[in-house]
Amino acid sequence: DGGQLVKYDGIWCATRLLRPIISTQKYFKAKDTDIILSTMPKSGTTWLKALAFAIINRNIHEIDQSPLLNSNPHAVVPALEFDAYRDQENPDLEHIPSPRIFSTHISYNTLPDSIRESECKIIYICRNPLDLFNSLWHFLLDNKSEKYAERILIDKAFDMFCKGNHHSGPFWDHMLGYWNAHLNDSQKVLFLKYEDLKEDITFHVKRIAEFIEFPFSLEEEKQGVIEKISRLCSFENLSNLEINKTGNSDIFKNSSFFRKGEVGDWKNHLTPEMAERVNKILESKLEGSGLMFKTCN
Ligand code: A3P
Repeated sequence: DGGQLVKYDGIWCATRLLRPIISTQKYFKAKDTDIILSTMPKSGTTWLKALAFAIINRNIHEIDQSPLLNSNPHAVVPALEFDAYRDQENPDLEHIPSPRIFSTHISYNTLPDSIRESECKIIYICRNPLDLFNSLWHFLLDNKSEKYAERILIDKAFDMFCKGNHHSGPFWDHMLGYWNAHLNDSQKVLFLKYEDLKEDITFHVKRIAEFIEFPFSLEEEKQGVIEKISRLCSFENLSNLEINKTGNSDIFKNSSFFRKGEVGDWKNHLTPEMAERVNKILESKLEGSGLMFKTCN
């Protein structure tokens, strides 16, 4: 969040999140019906929260009455370390009706054992690192009380990013942790990319629904429910809602979670040399893993 970072279990996290992360590891007991949305910040967390919530609750609220129309997605899906364990060491989460949905930025290896060992499902979304950094950079600027000279700081922030020294970083370790878990058990971990959702959202809404065992019936498909959910959760719709233009989530402005919502905006802010540096990192760190991004050149 722009504050001091500390390395814990091989991952960089904001100092203020260290205690909540440790409490999450110690006390969170996953149920088999839980759905865990895992991301690095700025990979599409807000979008994934909205989609998962809308899919699961589609028979509880009519889509045009969805709580997402007057609540920020971060308010309807709590984050383990930002919300659930922020103020209490061992909060009572039992009363939340199943299926419970939680999000987290915790890396795969640092997750509470019960998440890995139970039958609960994990959905991971990642994003090409150049857009990820660009989005993170703008988010930090937007939530800073003082605005610094962008050019000077972007270089320093970028250098830290490339060294893995950023929230939930190193990015390659975070991605590979979930990627390998997905390769190991694709029923347990669904691995998504932001760019793929931008390319074909209806396909992915269907895919997410099937993965969490809330598939759409033929009748629903005919009624256009998938398209309605896709529209409800779209950047255009969510970013224009009053609730997302005002208010705060945790210590951040709701509006800062909705900036541009595009693929490739890094080209407007980063130099070709910066892209080259990230590409070299990707080449060496992801080599042989099968994970790749088309959108980095
Ligand atoms: P940009 O800064 O590139 O616009 P997170 O939700 O993980 O914090 O990520 C925020 C990024 O996702 C921002 O990217 C934001 O604009 C984008 N975003 C938020 N809601 C979205 C949506 N419904 N559809 C697509 N992108 C979305």
